[in-house]
Amino acid sequence: MNPVQVVTLWCMLLLVPGLRAPRRGSPEEASFYYGTFPPGFSWGVGSSAYQTEGAWDQDGKGPSIWDAFTHSRTGKVLGDETADTSCDGYYKVEEDIVLLRELHVSHYRFSLSWPRLLPTGVRAEQVNKEGVKFYSDLIDALLKSNITPIVTLHHWDLPQLLQAQYGGWQNVSMAGHFRDYADLCFEAFGDRVKHWVTFSDPRAMVEHGYETGHHAPGLKHPGTSLYRAAHHIIKAHAQAWHSYNNTWRSKQKGLVGISLNCGWGEPVDISNPKDIEAAERYLQFCLGWFANPIYAGDYPQVMKDHIGRKSTEQGLDVSRLPVFSLQEKGYIKGTSDFLGLGHFTTRYITGRNYPSRQGPSYQNDRDLVELVDPNWPDLGSRWLYSVPWGFRRLLNFAQTQYGDPPIYVMENGASQKCHCTHLCDEWRIQYLKGYVNEMLKAIKDGANIRGYTSWSLLDKFEWDKGYTDRYGFYYVEFNSRNKPRYPKASVQYYKKIIIANGFPNAREVESWHHEALETCSVNNQLLATEPLLSHMCVASEIVVPTVCALCVLTAALLLTLLLRSPC
Ligand SMILES: *[C@@H]1O[C@H](CO)[C@@H](O)[C@H](O)[C@H]1NC(C)=O
Ligand SMILES: *[C@@H]1O[C@H](CO)[C@@H](O)[C@H](O)[C@H]1NC(C)=O
Repeated sequence: MNPVQVVTLWCMLLLVPGLRAPRRGSPEEASFYYGTFPPGFSWGVGSSAYQTEGAWDQDGKGPSIWDAFTHSRTGKVLGDETADTSCDGYYKVEEDIVLLRELHVSHYRFSLSWPRLLPTGVRAEQVNKEGVKFYSDLIDALLKSNITPIVTLHHWDLPQLLQAQYGGWQNVSMAGHFRDYADLCFEAFGDRVKHWVTFSDPRAMVEHGYETGHHAPGLKHPGTSLYRAAHHIIKAHAQAWHSYNNTWRSKQKGLVGISLNCGWGEPVDISNPKDIEAAERYLQFCLGWFANPIYAGDYPQVMKDHIGRKSTEQGLDVSRLPVFSLQEKGYIKGTSDFLGLGHFTTRYITGRNYPSRQGPSYQNDRDLVELVDPNWPDLGSRWLYSVPWGFRRLLNFAQTQYGDPPIYVMENGASQKCHCTHLCDEWRIQYLKGYVNEMLKAIKDGANIRGYTSWSLLDKFEWDKGYTDRYGFYYVEFNSRNKPRYPKASVQYYKKIIIANGFPNAREVESWHHEALETCSVNNQLLATEPLLSHMCVASEIVVPTVCALCVLTAALLLTLLLRSPC
């Protein structure tokens, strides 16, 4: 979303009567629920290969579409940044495992880089032994520390050669290549890895990669390529699942699922059927697009209806949404041992009752308008507002829509507003506390939630946002050669939740907050010994948010003091 759009939405929102009032008719949202999670509930943090590893061309790794995209330096990535080195995670396995132990997590979710394992993308052509060894050692090191690996096969970094040769996910041959790659991973690591995620947030991957062009491979074919890419991703997922089920499950006894990201869509006016339908469309176009084929064998009816009708209006003979054959439906249905969910924020949804002047696109196909409440706390990323109650609703929706599947929350977290080194991340603590509490309520409602992955372990390369959005529990000083990590206050807080397995009582939870904020001021001083330049806060937003403003003031003060002191 660009700033102009957000402003428009805000203005529109102010025109919607009653919306600025606190959430109607849901007293449970105001009350904090004290209690603990079921025994064995798994707590973790996540990351992904391209965002953290660096070593982009080391030890036999082939290029990915993200290497090609960032190296083209076309201004599509903020500051033309690359993740060539990023956090240097490739060289810091032991160091990062110390951080995981400090957090007391029971699992760590990370992704394998497909081109690090298969430099050309094709298993039959070349397997990179050094890549296999790297991940094998990482898995061993985690297990030695009693940390369960949750392994994502594909988190957006497709081998560049597959893009060049086949046009990437637009081509159905990708499904077979993905299955071969998945099979290699099951074979090489499946004796130790019992939780596999085939794809992470495939919706964003195809929307930004093939529709808006904001992400690699940077294609802009609105309204067509993303549906085709998604179609092939769903087939690829199913093939990998079947391969596991047929060949590996009996020996390895693990689970294979997919991880889908979706916000919650709340009708603007809950007494207006048009808004209710629009909110339902929002969820079906987001979550149902992938989850419905996997759980029910086909795309959601509302997607087929809307895209089909619009395709006809646009003079096409067939729908832009591809069709699964009867045989494919049977093959795809039931190919998930758990549902992975990523969730960050919520939108109010209203039906769009004016025709769009633009051509076919995913956005237009949905016929809806997304709004935000200006009262919601906004966090670092422009799209990310803290609305904990939406999380519970999404979890309950997933529970009822897909037949009460085991759910693993695979991503949930908040970023930071500016470049400034601010280790006292109180807003992340508030976000974490609110969202984890709503998840606890969803479990109380009956959702079968097995684990929670907070996003993310480290500050890292944030795709088209470069290094400006910081999601980490640990601050990474990217300007330093050595990429040192520093704990933010939220490390202490999350650790307390994990050790207590929830929120035991008000007195204790209060004390966590104070303790967390005490430690961070000490760490802030530590960090202050780093060069001044890296402390300057660059306000990248048009409206300078309060926290950022504070940072600017502090930086200015520091500068003044420095200039005054005789050098
Ligand atoms: C898929 O890849 C093959 C092999 O490169 C190519 O011949 C075919 O045209 C591609 N199909 C599409 C739809 O791009
Ligand atoms: C999964 O594998 C088991 C054991 O081989 C088999 O009985 C079952 O039919 C398979 N499931 C599917 C959906 O193919």
